[in-house]
Amino acid sequence: MSAVPQPRSEPAAGEVIVKAERLSKYFDVSPPWLNRVLERKGRQILRAVDGVSFDIKRGETLSLVGESGCGKSTVARLLVGLYTPTAGRVEFFGHDLREMNTASGRHLRQKLQMIFQDPYASLNPRWRVGDIIAEPLRAHGLMQDKQAIAARVDELLTLVRLAPADKEKYPHQFSGGQRQRLSIARALATHPEFLVCDEPTSALDVSVQAQVLNLMKELQRDLGLTYLFISHNLAVVHHISDRVGVMYLGKLVELAPKRTLFAAPRHPYTRMLLDAIPDLEMSGRARTPVAGEVPNPLNPPTGCTFHPRCPHANARCKSEVPVLKLVRHAAGESQVACHAVEEGRI
Ligand SMILES: Nc1ncnc2c1ncn2[C@@H]1O[C@H](COP(=O)(O)OP(=O)(O)O)[C@@H](O)[C@H]1O
Ligand code: SF4
Ligand SMILES: [Mg+2]
Repeated sequence: MSAVPQPRSEPAAGEVIVKAERLSKYFDVSPPWLNRVLERKGRQILRAVDGVSFDIKRGETLSLVGESGCGKSTVARLLVGLYTPTAGRVEFFGHDLREMNTASGRHLRQKLQMIFQDPYASLNPRWRVGDIIAEPLRAHGLMQDKQAIAARVDELLTLVRLAPADKEKYPHQFSGGQRQRLSIARALATHPEFLVCDEPTSALDVSVQAQVLNLMKELQRDLGLTYLFISHNLAVVHHISDRVGVMYLGKLVELAPKRTLFAAPRHPYTRMLLDAIPDLEMSGRARTPVAGEVPNPLNPPTGCTFHPRCPHANARCKSEVPVLKLVRHAAGESQVACHAVEEGRI
């Protein structure tokens, strides 16, 4: 196998390897110039991600949850360098991710990979599985020797509990769960440290979801992987995470260790999300559907953007944007962006 350039320094276990600092991504969704002039409309800027900060330690799984459109996939794309931040930065092994596009930063790129929701769309249907899995090895110039590549493909297929003989087949010959295993095998080809998984099991049946999640957990333990896991499904997040971040309209509203978050959700939105799922921790909580609709992101509410849906909103909530602050409570420590929590009202 060819030598893989190593990151500048190998961090110790538990050390932060990914850092998002006040990360923002705004999209200009303005109508064309002529329409704006004729209709007397200004530019329209959509704040898909707005000042999000978090750390991810080596070997842990940080999950991001929230309703559709809250900015999860945009964070995912920012973290693997598919989008450049409008403001803020992503640090990976102490390097700004922007360095990834320079010659000296190229080694960073193979250390991070992404797994998408729809494995069928991300696997070329006309290629044999062996070529699909080998593609990153060739693209990164890691291996040239045909036999070495074939051996690595066999190893990867075995790693994801498929058979080496499967490399002769095409993606359509596999089930949904098997196709997601193929995407995982391909993502692992370059020996990545960090995997961004954007709803990797959302398109699968519940029973298959559990198999893929368990495989991901085993791979994490065996290969020392670090995950950013994205899902709108709190049951999935409960299964896989060490820590959980809850997003609402482009912002992180709560960030806490999984047990703390599920046992003692602090933010009213987190409580609403948890009340809507089956009772995972057997706390005896009744099930209530998530109330209200997500506001139009082009015209977000003032102050705390959750205030139109919040049972605890007051005048301050309507005018002042709450910021993420550390809160100590009986069940542990959480970072929460809520005036009512800060004031001790709830
Ligand atoms: N390329 C883009 N151009 C314009 N708007 C976008 C683009 N990508 C995402 N958005 C908008 O940004 C917001 C966040 O989207 P996304 O990150 O996909 O959310 P999620 O993954 O949580 O459903 C949504 O309002 C979405 O419509
Ligand atoms: S800041 Fe106010 S509106 Fe926002 S979640 Fe807290 S109580 Fe509700
Ligand atoms: Mg998404």
